[in-house]
Amino acid sequence: MKYEEAVEYIESRLSQSVRRDFLDIDRKTESEVFDHSTVMAIYYLMSRGYIDSIDFPISTGKEANVFRAVDQKGSMVAVKIYRIATSNFRKMRMYIEGDPRFKGISHDRRRLVYRWSMKEFSNLERMVGAGVRVPIPISQKDNVLVMEYIGDDERPAPLMKDADFDVEKGFDFIVDAMGRMYRDAKLVHGDISEYNILVDGDSFVLIDVSQAVHLKHPASSELLERDVRNVARYFRKKGLDVDENDIMRKVRD
Ligand SMILES: Nc1ncnc2c1ncn2[C@@H]1O[C@H](COP(=O)(O)OP(=O)(O)OP(=O)(O)O)[C@@H](O)[C@H]1O
Ligand SMILES: [Mg+2]
Repeated sequence: MKYEEAVEYIESRLSQSVRRDFLDIDRKTESEVFDHSTVMAIYYLMSRGYIDSIDFPISTGKEANVFRAVDQKGSMVAVKIYRIATSNFRKMRMYIEGDPRFKGISHDRRRLVYRWSMKEFSNLERMVGAGVRVPIPISQKDNVLVMEYIGDDERPAPLMKDADFDVEKGFDFIVDAMGRMYRDAKLVHGDISEYNILVDGDSFVLIDVSQAVHLKHPASSELLERDVRNVARYFRKKGLDVDENDIMRKVRD
């Protein structure tokens, strides 16, 4: 498949709003989602039916763009595309090196981002295996990840920071999720906050797990302590009487 043909095919599968989004991004040289190899990765996932059309952007963040898409069977999916040019190379290296699952040092920026996306995919798999509610991973190619979409027809589920929710239930969800990650998946999330939890009706879904590290990573205890501190601080602000040592105990045993 030639690049030009892939672009043409993909463009025919984009909604109007997304087409504008892709073009805008393309014009900014420092943040190109739609660069050559990303196009080919999207095309690869389309040709295998994981993505049929892309409906609208859900989020344009510092490092990744997330889109709502539909697969060949007509089910809604979320597509997360890591941008190569604006990736935080230093941070990615820090989290990847030291994780026994991802041996070897990557000096190549592009390859590091591919590994980062692969790491998110495998973290999602491990978390699903441990019974943590996260988006179910579906497929991944290079810097593009396809996963379960959380939300309804019209809009994606809101972030905890923007949602009304039962505070006690939210707290219990997080502590339970951290415990399952720690004990069963042998992982520490490392970026737990109200920005990385979706409120889906009465339930909660943890997202953004690319940085989660194995317990053998030298920084895992420090990251766990930070997660616990952040959770305690947030729920105290929400009016709960929570204790950091108590959370830590629940997570560890
Ligand atoms: N599976 C999903 N279903 C619905 N919405 C999602 C899904 N995954 C991510 N989102 C939305 O996309 C946003 C960005 O996703 P995520 O937190 O995984 O990326 P990120 O790495 O934090 O990006 P950045 O920090 O650069 O914004 C989330 O805040 C959420 O609103
Ligand atoms: Mg996030």
